[in-house]
Amino acid sequence: MAYQDIYAGWQSDPEGFWMEASRAIDWTHPPSRAFFDQGPAGEWFSDGMVNTCWNAIDRHVQAGHGDRLAVIHDSAMTGKVERLTYAQLQDQVARLAGVLAAHGVGKGDRVIIYMPMIPQALQAMLACARIGAIHSVVFGGFAAHELAVRIDDARPKAILAASCGLEPNRVVPYKPLMDQALEEAAHKPTLCLVHQRPECTAAMTEGRDLDWDEAIATATPADCVPVEGNHPAYILYTSGTTGQPKGVVRHTAGHLVALAWSVPHIYDIGPGDVFFVASDVGWVVGHSYIVYGPLIAGATTVIFEGKPVGTPDAGTFWRIIADHGVKSFFTAPTAIRAVKRDDPDGALIGQHDLSSLKALFLAGERADPDTITWAEDRLNIPVIDHWWQTETGWPIAANPLGAGLLPIRKGSPSVPMPGYHIDVLDEAGHPVAPGTLGAIALRLPLPPGTLPTLWNAEARFRKAYLDHFPGYYETGDAGYVDEDGYVFIMARTDDVINVAGHRLSTGAMEEVLSSHPAVAECAVIGVVNTLKGQAPVGLLCLKKGVTTPPDQVVSQVVALVRDRIGPVAAFKTACVVDRLPKTRSGKILRATMAKIADGEEVKTPATIDDPAILDEIRTALAGVGYPCER
Ligand code: COA
Ligand code: AMP
Repeated sequence: MAYQDIYAGWQSDPEGFWMEASRAIDWTHPPSRAFFDQGPAGEWFSDGMVNTCWNAIDRHVQAGHGDRLAVIHDSAMTGKVERLTYAQLQDQVARLAGVLAAHGVGKGDRVIIYMPMIPQALQAMLACARIGAIHSVVFGGFAAHELAVRIDDARPKAILAASCGLEPNRVVPYKPLMDQALEEAAHKPTLCLVHQRPECTAAMTEGRDLDWDEAIATATPADCVPVEGNHPAYILYTSGTTGQPKGVVRHTAGHLVALAWSVPHIYDIGPGDVFFVASDVGWVVGHSYIVYGPLIAGATTVIFEGKPVGTPDAGTFWRIIADHGVKSFFTAPTAIRAVKRDDPDGALIGQHDLSSLKALFLAGERADPDTITWAEDRLNIPVIDHWWQTETGWPIAANPLGAGLLPIRKGSPSVPMPGYHIDVLDEAGHPVAPGTLGAIALRLPLPPGTLPTLWNAEARFRKAYLDHFPGYYETGDAGYVDEDGYVFIMARTDDVINVAGHRLSTGAMEEVLSSHPAVAECAVIGVVNTLKGQAPVGLLCLKKGVTTPPDQVVSQVVALVRDRIGPVAAFKTACVVDRLPKTRSGKILRATMAKIADGEEVKTPATIDDPAILDEIRTALAGVGYPCER
């Protein structure tokens, strides 16, 4: 069915549309209806009983597909490739679930997963799903403190970790970071299960830590435990405007139905197809389309450990696509920019047989038309931008390859997917005319698979997403919709920045900078970066009487952000200024400073208390290389 018919079908009968979509899932008890008007923003399939792991693994084995490849782990860091069939995955996951169950982890208990891109990470998530435990995966690039914050918020019964991750030119010992986090956190989990990697084995704490392989070897496999449709499948923390991350909750049944619909319709992936999503299990893209989506569809997923460039070169993606017969490939625009920078003519592309590849999908940040054109010209396949968020769990706007591709408009992630009604609103909450910039909002209710609330923070959920525009979910993105319904995402309306496809909070970085004893006041802005999209830059005002040289304070705060938030923040630049530009009411003019750093024309804001400060900021930013050459 063509996109227009699908979307119109959903508009005319949302309940019927989602009930029909729910038939792609195996239910222990089917739901009596799709939408339930309960909770702060509604829920889906709440009275159905279902299990995610059954739908991702067991049903395929039961249907006779146990020998089909479920997972290909391709590590550009170790040079090794490991393959797991659905039957092998079932065995590993059932045993791991058995280990958890034997240690008292059951339905509703939280489990934190802190692991690199290895098959055990995916098995950990599925083992939790098997017994109804709620996992929360923490990205490996976050520091111990960030892990501690999540431990205290989720209060997990168990932590599953690996001894180390592998980054270019360095081994990252995860286990000591976990130990440090456990020391800092007030909450203490009872079980720490550690997968030892040969590149760096971890010291174990007697009586608390358990060796993964040993535990699995003797485990009694656990069966799938059916859970209610509105049972939380997982919590995934994402950056908000403060240092306290938001725990996005995903309900089980809506998640299953949304992924079962989106994998074939958007990505054109079906049973036996190979899907390669170069992201990380620590992000929502990894949850939905490395782990759950492809397996629910009965496809093969590629788990890639490495970087787009330097492991060993800019041809790694193309080598993987050729070696494993990848049909659809999904990554962040920044990864393609990195490849383009190292291999501008795409010479390495020509060295591989990419005949299996039908499309390249991009998301996580705005896909600039130059990057899309470069990839289109060299790959000769559709390059499809699509837009979504941790909160939504699956694309809000996309170009649905599986339903018949619509014309591509560069700079636009195309059109709303069924379930999403997009309005662009002015400050007063009124829809604006096509082509007019405004806040992008989604009319309630949101579709299945999207967040029903924040973990233990319903008031924050309402305040952050529902209160500003009654009747809507506020995305935090600004942009416009053109005459033909194509969406254009232009900027964030809050303090969230996007660095190499990673969502980061400038507010969280400011909290770290402010904790330095020499810093009186500070601001962190997102500035344009040709590789990573954006990069954070700090502006610091020092306390009176501070004798530490400014350069020293700068290197100390850079180290502090790495230590408190993690290397993923990529916070490398700061400068000391006498004062920050503010409105007469005291609000720091971050957007104005970001414009100066980006070399854009700056109109002096009417509300500024002292326009002369802008020249001081200009000089300070020039001192650290901004605006930079593009
Ligand atoms: N564990 C530990 N450290 C990690 C990590 C992990 N899982 N992931 C990243 N880091 C560290 C890196 O080693 C780096 O540390 P450094 O400052 O010591 O060099 C820092 O965090 C920043 O990493 P990264 O964002 O990967 O930047 P990079 O400069 O190493 O590489 C790119 C640049 C563009 C190649 C890289 O950012 C990239 O591949 N981006 C795509 C991101 C993506 O897929 N996002 C998902 C959205 S769909
Ligand atoms: P995350 O929750 O980490 O997936 O980040 C979501 C945010 O990334 C969105 O709210 C946007 O600001 C940005 N984003 C994701 N995909 C796109 C896209 N295709 N175009 C523009 N911005 C995007």
